Amino acid sequence: MEDLNFLIEKLEKELEKIEAKPEFEEAGEVIKVSDGIVWISGLFKAFASEILFVEDKNIPLIALNLEEGLIGAGALDDFSKIKPGDIVKRTKKIIQVPVGENLIGRVIDPLGRPLDNLGPIESQEFYPLERKAPSVIEREPVNTPLHTGIKIIDALIPIGRGQRELILGDRQIGKTSIALDVILNQKNDPFETPVCVYVAIGQKMSKIRRVYEILKREGALDYTIIVATTPEDLPILLYLAPYAGCSIGEYFRDKGKDALVIYDDLTKHAWAWREISLLLKRPAGREAYPGDIFYTHSRLLERAAKLKNGGSLTALPICETQLGDISAYIPTNLISITDGQIYLETDLFKANFRPAINIGLSVSRVGSKAQTKIMKKVAGKLKLDLAQFRELEEFSKLSTELPPEISQKIKRGRILMEILKQENLKPMTFEKIAILIYAANNGFLDDFELSEIKELENKLLNYLEKDKKDLLDEIIKKKDLDEDLENKIKEALIYFFEKIKK
Ligand SMILES: Nc1ncnc2c1ncn2[C@@H]1O[C@H](COP(=O)(O)OP(=O)(O)OP(=O)(O)O)[C@@H](O)[C@H]1O
Ligand SMILES: [Mg+2]
Repeated sequence: MEDLNFLIEKLEKELEKIEAKPEFEEAGEVIKVSDGIVWISGLFKAFASEILFVEDKNIPLIALNLEEGLIGAGALDDFSKIKPGDIVKRTKKIIQVPVGENLIGRVIDPLGRPLDNLGPIESQEFYPLERKAPSVIEREPVNTPLHTGIKIIDALIPIGRGQRELILGDRQIGKTSIALDVILNQKNDPFETPVCVYVAIGQKMSKIRRVYEILKREGALDYTIIVATTPEDLPILLYLAPYAGCSIGEYFRDKGKDALVIYDDLTKHAWAWREISLLLKRPAGREAYPGDIFYTHSRLLERAAKLKNGGSLTALPICETQLGDISAYIPTNLISITDGQIYLETDLFKANFRPAINIGLSVSRVGSKAQTKIMKKVAGKLKLDLAQFRELEEFSKLSTELPPEISQKIKRGRILMEILKQENLKPMTFEKIAILIYAANNGFLDDFELSEIKELENKLLNYLEKDKKDLLDEIIKKKDLDEDLENKIKEALIYFFEKIKK
């Protein structure tokens, strides 16, 4: 009997601890489904970019339009199974992506689902797709170069870590090739290898595969992640892709490392967002883009930064123009958001000047602060000579008889332009670029025909690699052109060219 009393007392005590509270689970109901957009009633407390789930069918949605009592959400998976009357539940979680070292070498979609048949992504950490850009206090000025391995860029339009540099131009003139070369060059660069994230936005699967194969073949997958979406994907995935890529890069940036994120391309991103916005019945503005299209891109690119913790995130957005029109809506927006642009031109590409970069129209507003001193010194002269060359070339069209010193300057200009040509998939390290430009600037190539220049360049590079390794190493170490180093470079060049001329 005592035992029973004791038991009752104990139970009573336990019961006191339990507080009976009614619990409500928020649920909504699907009203309509059309073109991947799901309209839901109820769910009054859902917030923007929250993940919702269609009950029983396990299909994730993302909340986009929050009107009173009616939510417009984008389906993130096959929406054909969603029917009016289906119940939708909240997760109270904003859309996120797995981040971390395990992603390196992988191909994933914007939600972190693997696309490369290499098994699931093992990651403990997740980052939301939308994150706040670092504040001014957390930032520091760009001060380390991001060598692209492309002669024109590293010499004349230098990019610094933490910068946002736009690559723009028409179809099929080498935009992706530039981005790819930048990734490939990182493994040979003496500065810390950044983690590279290549975000393909609505790119054909064949093109993504090509990028993947090249990165794999060249050993660049050891530090690269691909976030891929194709034209067959839902537009919402295309829309989310760059934010996911940025968050993945930010993980490394937050750890004090360098990251490089390439968005290929934001024109297709703008199209995807326009399509979604029209389906959501948002008011359309210029060229039928929604009013927030500028903000869509600016809040993405604002997240590029050089931080005081030593980390950085460099953004290379790509923009496709139509018939070279850089004054269209999306290109002008992007030009105004970024710290400079690399402008590719069809005429140059057709004339076999490749990479088809228009040197006059391309700029980099912050990168020169990060350029190595040696490059700054050799490129300074190059810039002046090229500007003079362009003027003289125009002038020479008007007259037949040219004074010898002018025709000499024009010849030098042509040689410089020849030197700046570069095949894709052949990035060049900065110390070699510096010597090459030094040689051209100082007249070492003046006695040769234009047709001989490329062969000569190859021979010179071979010679430097084989016989002048310590000179290259010294440049890498010093990164400056002092008198002693300049004499060594001169000496090497004199020796090489005397041998060639014999
Ligand atoms: N520097 C170069 N030298 C020689 N060929 C090049 C060079 N750069 C690009 N190409 C060639 O030009 C073609 C188009 O290049 P790429 O795919 O990079 O252009 P794109 O502008 O990204 O094209 P799209 O508009 O289709 O995305 C490719 O066949 C590539 O091999
Ligand atoms: Mg491309």
